[in-house]
Amino acid sequence: MDAARAGAAEIVRFFNKEFTISNKEGVNNLVTEADHAAEKAILEVIRKNYPEHHILSEETGEIVQDSQYKWLIDPIDGTVNFAHGIPLNCVSIGIEKDGDMLLAAVFNPHMNEFYFAEKGKGATLNDKPIKVSEESRTIKSCLVTGFPYTYINIPNGPLEIFDRFIRKGVPVRRLGSAAIDLCWVAAGRFDGFYEHKLEPWDSAAGYLIVEEAGGKVTDFEGTKFSPYQHRVLATNGKIHEEMLGVINNTKQL
Ligand code: IPD
Ligand code: CA
Ligand code: CA
Repeated sequence: MDAARAGAAEIVRFFNKEFTISNKEGVNNLVTEADHAAEKAILEVIRKNYPEHHILSEETGEIVQDSQYKWLIDPIDGTVNFAHGIPLNCVSIGIEKDGDMLLAAVFNPHMNEFYFAEKGKGATLNDKPIKVSEESRTIKSCLVTGFPYTYINIPNGPLEIFDRFIRKGVPVRRLGSAAIDLCWVAAGRFDGFYEHKLEPWDSAAGYLIVEEAGGKVTDFEGTKFSPYQHRVLATNGKIHEEMLGVINNTKQL
């Protein structure tokens, strides 16, 4: 929690102020001065308290250590939003123990929303327990998705699936932060979220928060999710099978 707060303080310090922006691969995959500052602040907290832990952080990469514990860090999830002054961005931190997600924190300081989960102990938003929605029909659901910076032209690709839902009039939002998308499923605001190309730091924390809020998270084959898989479907559980059918084009709404 301290690490997430330290990162978020840097996000707030730079938000809507001046900062340098550079490109990663592709013209729209950005990294800003604030991403680096937030990451530095997070890593300082970890190094001070747990210098022996293994770390995977988006901008720094892997700091390999022989430890049971591995931190999966996205210093700003929603960087494009951040760069445009859109207050939908956050720090996302997950911790694995022996390969299983143990702890998760996602903090959007602009809305003062701190999501937290510990394996087996439930999920909270600002210390109050949260749970997924009760909706049991996809056709009546409110969904959210995201699109990759480089389009993937495959069968059942991002636009094809988006097309299937919106042709049936299902509202599908696109917020621009996978970690927030997942937390909003956990909080019951959205009934389901899917995305084709996420990285471990995008999904690690949100994945545990959804599970601990009573939701279900799998890949597009319906097998148990791991943050090292790119394709993620996170739902309230009740619409999971139906959404999998639409995604794989084996079911029509
Ligand atoms: C991105 C966001 C976005 C998702 C992209 C991610 P970033 O992370 O989570 O919602 O659609 O796939 O890369 O680049 O802002 O850390
Ligand atoms: Ca991210
Ligand atoms: Ca990021």
